[in-house]
Amino acid sequence: ERTRVVILGAGPAGLLLSHLLHRAGVESVVVEARDREYVQARVRAGVVEHGTADILREAGVGDRLDREGLPHGGIELRFDGEGHRIPMSDLTGRHITVYGQQKVVHDLTEQRLADGGDVRFACGPARIHDVDTAEPSVTYTLDGEEHRVVADFVVGCDGAHGSGRTAMGPAMSALEKEYPFAWLGILAHASPRVDELVYASHERGFALYSMRSTEMTRLYLQVPSSDRLEDWPDDRIWEELSVRFSLGGEPWSPTRGEIFERSLAPLHSFVAEPMQRGRLFLAGDAAHIVPPTGAKGMNLAIRDVALLAPAMAKQLTDGDESDLRTYSERALQDVWRAEYFSWWMTTMLHRFEGTAFDRRVQTAQLRSVVSSRAHSTALAEAYVG
Ligand code: FAD
Ligand code: DHB
Repeated sequence: ERTRVVILGAGPAGLLLSHLLHRAGVESVVVEARDREYVQARVRAGVVEHGTADILREAGVGDRLDREGLPHGGIELRFDGEGHRIPMSDLTGRHITVYGQQKVVHDLTEQRLADGGDVRFACGPARIHDVDTAEPSVTYTLDGEEHRVVADFVVGCDGAHGSGRTAMGPAMSALEKEYPFAWLGILAHASPRVDELVYASHERGFALYSMRSTEMTRLYLQVPSSDRLEDWPDDRIWEELSVRFSLGGEPWSPTRGEIFERSLAPLHSFVAEPMQRGRLFLAGDAAHIVPPTGAKGMNLAIRDVALLAPAMAKQLTDGDESDLRTYSERALQDVWRAEYFSWWMTTMLHRFEGTAFDRRVQTAQLRSVVSSRAHSTALAEAYVG
């Protein structure tokens, strides 16, 4: 079997790439390891940057985002028992939209299927072959039978644990950083007590108040990497949140409700350089991971493919490979800017095993961000994207 582009992974990156290629007249096949229900039920990111929303709109997949997404013009930074609003829209003229990654994935899947796109779910982990030749291919095993798809290009949009990254082999350098903590994330049936996201830095650790709708709350707590979900019964989660969100020395509790989803995610940073080996390209989490504090993960994945799709289409339709040749270099500039911002937000807001000096400097940095218009604007510009 032969196609122009074979894409591993039906997350935001893989689905949008397939859609954008289709709009440019290029045929592709998406091979996804898991079944559709699993992919769509996976709860992850929730912040869509201004520029990301524009990309989705221009691609014709922004209608539900515009209808159901919650536009936010600011965020709150809470520390030392005080809340400080960063008025992002006033400072930048741009805003973010709170809209779950699940919905983005759902919208893109529907659109691909409506356009007759070839998205193959439940294929198990696919394998990549011959990327240094003119006939790279992908194989997967379905019902005991081996399938092979040969293409002009293979794109690994298969996340941090996929085959794309592995297939880079020695062509790739990995630049990494680990943090000694994880985020415990919950979803609860509860009306958010706030209209905008609250990033709280407290002696006991970081906490984040977010949401998915007017009836659904998303909350996160910094916890040690060694903690397990069993260590965090519901009451402990709610009590810890009310301490970390304290205002004026008093506990401040999020509206409670039934917790119906919970997960632990370790924090780390990773960048693959370059994002190409021969006829294999990487996009999204396959190429880079950011700690979630800056809400950049999904946005970067979408930006990668917004660069890659036109470059690849140009090569395949006009034989002009100039843009494709510079894809990795161009993408990595945005990647490193997001790595920097995510690292900065993470170090500014989390609790580290540091000295009292380190802690004072951290607070001074937060004070500077909320009191200097220039410093607030720098945060706002990077955050809204
Ligand atoms: P993914 O969405 O990971 O999609 C990759 C797809 O490839 C998956 O569907 C997978 O099943 C499939 N796949 C894997 N291996 C293979 C294979 N060999 N063959 C075929 N298919 C394969 N970002 C935030 O901003 N905020 C958050 O709160 C947040 N929480 C996160 C929680 C977790 C547990 C994770 C893993 C990520 C989180 N992120 C968060 C990051 C954000 O969700 C990702 O950046 C985003 O999903 C990247 O999209 P993607 O398409 O590159 O990869
Ligand atoms: C959400 C996740 C983030 O990592 C973030 O910085 C803000 C919001 C969320 O899931 O809503």
